[in-house]
Amino acid sequence: MKLDRRISIAPMMDWTDRHDRYFLRLIAPHVLLYTEMVTSQALIHGDVSRHLAFSEIEHPVALQLGGSDPAQLAHCAKLGESYGYDEINLNVGCPSDRVKSGHFGACLMLEPGRVADCIAAMIAAVSIPVTVKCRIGVDNEDSYEQLASFIDKIHTAGCQVFIIHARKAWLNGLSPKQNREIPPLRYDVVRQIKRDFPMLSVVINGGIKTVKEIEEHLHFVDGVMIGREAYSNPYFLAEIERSFFASEEPRSRQAVINALMPYVTEQIQQGARLSNITRHILGLFQSQKGARLWRRYLSENAHKIGAGVEVLVGAMNIINEVS
Ligand SMILES: Cc1cc2nc3c(=O)[nH]c(=O)nc-3n(C[C@H](O)[C@H](O)[C@H](O)COP(=O)(O)O)c2cc1C
Repeated sequence: MKLDRRISIAPMMDWTDRHDRYFLRLIAPHVLLYTEMVTSQALIHGDVSRHLAFSEIEHPVALQLGGSDPAQLAHCAKLGESYGYDEINLNVGCPSDRVKSGHFGACLMLEPGRVADCIAAMIAAVSIPVTVKCRIGVDNEDSYEQLASFIDKIHTAGCQVFIIHARKAWLNGLSPKQNREIPPLRYDVVRQIKRDFPMLSVVINGGIKTVKEIEEHLHFVDGVMIGREAYSNPYFLAEIERSFFASEEPRSRQAVINALMPYVTEQIQQGARLSNITRHILGLFQSQKGARLWRRYLSENAHKIGAGVEVLVGAMNIINEVS
């Protein structure tokens, strides 16, 4: 499958799980979705199906892996391919302590040789694209030359696609959340990488919230990855579909919920809790009449024991009453 990388939704731990991706796909048929990061250790020692199972409707969907051992990552990439993922992505951008102690994520930007070995091993193991998500630098190792040399090494190992969060990361002193807010955005750096490596597919990420901004970025790079805005304001994806994919008119918010109901019923039958699904849909009516009532009704009712699809029906009734 040739992936359209113009617009993708970022990997976000605890947020872009399979339930969220299913929901986002009902709004946006075309954007490329990413899983949360799954570590190679979790796949090697844990329940593979729990980590990797997803619904057909989620395609195109990329699996993001975290790790730093070439053989283990190659094994996990193969597992991902066998589950049907359309791409394997290596996380070289996440700065959390847990990630640092596991020796992967953003700290790997300081070890381009190791990342190159990982990428080469993963590429040799699968026939789907293997991509990298990184920052523009870490700590004081943040010169343009260092970034360009990192990209060059990983490209030489065979990677053709780089998703670059246009901020450096501080490995000590800032929380992951602060590392998404405090280091300044440097879109110019990412654009320069595209100019210097025109053969690569370069996807820009960080702080992008409007269709206008996406349009602007697409003059300079191949794709745009959206993170937090897609989660807090998921119906933004309908605007993206209209603007970039010229597809049929996207589902209305109500139609999205109607289409979600059979999935909710099925997942609850399989043991999921309603609140595990509804926590992702709280922002659906953002800026619409009834948004607060929607949130409140779901938050108060979805966690109750035995809660099922009738809670969604109740929440929809409230929206219909106020609109
Ligand atoms: C809750 C949360 C979890 C995240 N988890 C991951 C992750 O697992 N892997 C990763 O590469 N980036 C992760 N990120 C970073 C996002 O992928 C993205 O790079 C960042 O939020 C910047 O994009 P944005 O400004 O559009 O949100 C996470 C971000 C958030 C908000």
